[in-house]
Amino acid sequence: YGKTWQSTLGPIRTSAGQVSVRPIRLRDAKTWSELRVRNEQTLVPWEPTGMGTWEQRHHTSQWGPLYSALRSEAKRGTILPYVIELDGRYVGQLTVGNIQRGAVRSAWIGYWIDSEHFGGGIATAAVALGVDHCFGRVGLHRLDATVQPANQASQAVLAKVGFRNEGLLKRYMDVNSQWRDHLLFALTVEDLPTSAVEALVRSGRASY
Ligand code: ACO
Repeated sequence: YGKTWQSTLGPIRTSAGQVSVRPIRLRDAKTWSELRVRNEQTLVPWEPTGMGTWEQRHHTSQWGPLYSALRSEAKRGTILPYVIELDGRYVGQLTVGNIQRGAVRSAWIGYWIDSEHFGGGIATAAVALGVDHCFGRVGLHRLDATVQPANQASQAVLAKVGFRNEGLLKRYMDVNSQWRDHLLFALTVEDLPTSAVEALVRSGRASY
């Protein structure tokens, strides 16, 4: 499994430009830190609670240890840590986590985008690329996405890719210092007649 995380996905074209997804790199430290610090206001309401201030947690020096931890998980086949690129520039991240094999073959998917690029279809394109990779080479059968009821933009992204709302998980995750309810969205292989990217292209939201 250790090599599927090294794949580059895409590119596909959206109204914002060419979207592709590639593995995280050690040299992403500066961009990661800059974007995460700049996007604190849009990220804090939705992200797991962490130790220390946002600036401390996203200082350039924090990337090395985080990168190493993610890479070793990726080599074990339990996570796919990706960067989302717009026209070759780092604009966000896509992560597939808790990859389970055996009779379940499922994982969760999560993402964020630099607020300067909101609304261009970038997250939708990246999620579609991630879904096709997970249901293709990675060999998964089901993807879950948990999102707070107030996060309308993220729910719109999931709906556009074909995820369905399967219900409410009460006090599911410690986010912004409180246990928050989350909606469980999910997609299984059977839901997609061809592929997620193909469906996006057919709906006019992306092109090859
Ligand atoms: N109410 C309703 N719909 C909204 C709102 C809103 N307030 N804001 C945006 N939208 C819609 C847009 O209209 C668009 O849908 P449309 O194409 O049908 O018009 C959709 O949300 C956004 O689609 P994209 O342009 O593909 O998404 P974008 O690249 O802007 O990224 C994202 C969306 C990732 C949710 C971004 O807003 C973000 O990074 N937010 C902060 C972090 C975050 O919430 N991450 C997701 C956490 S949940 C999870 O990971 C499963």
